[in-house]
Amino acid sequence: MVLDLDPGEGAGLAECARVAAWCREILTDMGLESFPVTSGSKGIHLYAPLDGSASSEEVDQVAHELARALETDHPEEVISTQSRSKRTGKVLVDWSQNNGKKTTVCPYSLRGRLRPTVAAPRTWEEIEDPALAHLEMAEVLERVEVEPAAPAAGEVRIKNAAIGLNFIDIYLRTGLYPAELPSGMGQEGAGTIDAVGADVDNFAVGDRVAYVGSPLGAYAEYHTRPVTNVIKLPDAISCEQAAAAMLKGLTAQYLLRQTYRLQGDETILLHAAAGGVGSIACQWASALGVKVIGTVSTAEKAERAKRNGAWATINYTQENVVERVRELTAGAGCPVVYDSVGKATWEDSLDCLMRRGLMVSYGNASGPVENVNLAILNQKGSLFVTRPSLFGYLGNREQFETMCADLFDVIASGDVHIDIGQRYALADAGQAQQALADRQTTGSTILVP
Ligand SMILES: NC(=O)c1ccc[n+]([C@@H]2O[C@H](COP(=O)([O-])OP(=O)(O)OC[C@H]3O[C@@H](n4cnc5c(N)ncnc54)[C@H](OP(=O)(O)O)[C@@H]3O)[C@@H](O)[C@H]2O)c1
Repeated sequence: MVLDLDPGEGAGLAECARVAAWCREILTDMGLESFPVTSGSKGIHLYAPLDGSASSEEVDQVAHELARALETDHPEEVISTQSRSKRTGKVLVDWSQNNGKKTTVCPYSLRGRLRPTVAAPRTWEEIEDPALAHLEMAEVLERVEVEPAAPAAGEVRIKNAAIGLNFIDIYLRTGLYPAELPSGMGQEGAGTIDAVGADVDNFAVGDRVAYVGSPLGAYAEYHTRPVTNVIKLPDAISCEQAAAAMLKGLTAQYLLRQTYRLQGDETILLHAAAGGVGSIACQWASALGVKVIGTVSTAEKAERAKRNGAWATINYTQENVVERVRELTAGAGCPVVYDSVGKATWEDSLDCLMRRGLMVSYGNASGPVENVNLAILNQKGSLFVTRPSLFGYLGNREQFETMCADLFDVIASGDVHIDIGQRYALADAGQAQQALADRQTTGSTILVP
């Protein structure tokens, strides 16, 4: 059963907390335990697990009765009908979410705001605390002490020297990409092997290594993981460089060398060119001779993109991207667009392509692209679209090693400089994620244990 406590004008979280305590009393009397969630918007949701024997109509009726009873007992504080005009100063106990036809029983995990708040389960002590407030993203990441796991067969334990921060960490944290919770975080790091499990032939204690991908848990002093996607580091690559470059650099590798294999004579559009993947991809493409048009949101980021070899930059918060790209390409458009921004840039990106061009939509920094009508590809010039993922390209051990060798070569040769724009203490991982989500970072960000 779910009760959605929604404050009317003049009421707030404190009033919702009071009503939540009354709901809890009634539910307890009914033999039901209740779990509060601050919704991240205005109010509180209460969840009470049932044994599954009642139909949604029956649950709906009970919840409705509960809301009416509360309104009778506390007419000044509670209302059980949706009427907006009567809600002023009161809390609506919305029982209607129990209807089986509703699809909103689960709370939103993240609110689309300048500083996004999250729906998060809370303890009753927190609900009773007068300082109760909605949580921001950075507040739902908790540091815990655990004994580092001994490596099982096929695993190694790595003492992290540095950990890479990635946008995918935010998607996992906000629930855009599913993860089983509670969970560790992070999929990229580098350090020294300090223990080796059985059946591991190619790694030894003391090896300097880097890794990418699952299992989650790189945000830690020690990370125990299978040797899959773990690689020994050449002397020329430091642990910090590797932690800043494994996930982002291997992504640039497959985007530029596999998804669309650049030849060197193209003019391409690369979004977020001063970001983590963007900085590496921009340098790599320009080292291949490609003219990169990079989009950025500030003058400072434009400077950075230029330093990364961008041939031209467009501030996509101020300029018309399609017009500028058409101007810069003498009307031709680009053979390929690398788009990690997603929702906000989707349609403009298609309009920047030449006929039969390839749209590589590889990220959702502004939100996922949804509800695409495929006919749009026909209308805009028989376009191709792909939505790739690094983990679809890493493939077998040989492919992984080949991609790493390619990446390490461009770093060691100086074609790609790994620009570590920010360093955070591991304990400040929440702040680091907030800065990344707020578009305040440039280049790569690492966490240092
Ligand atoms: N598919 C894959 O295999 C794969 C692998 C790695 C990464 N990615 C994707 O690549 C992108 C870059 O990842 P990253 O870790 O290197 O991050 P990042 O580029 O360092 O940060 C994201 C950048 O996106 C831009 N952006 C545009 N609209 C935004 C918005 N509404 N909110 C936040 N940022 C916005 C910002 O640059 P401006 O301020 O200049 O706009 C921001 O700095 C992400 O979308 C990520 O999911 C995909």
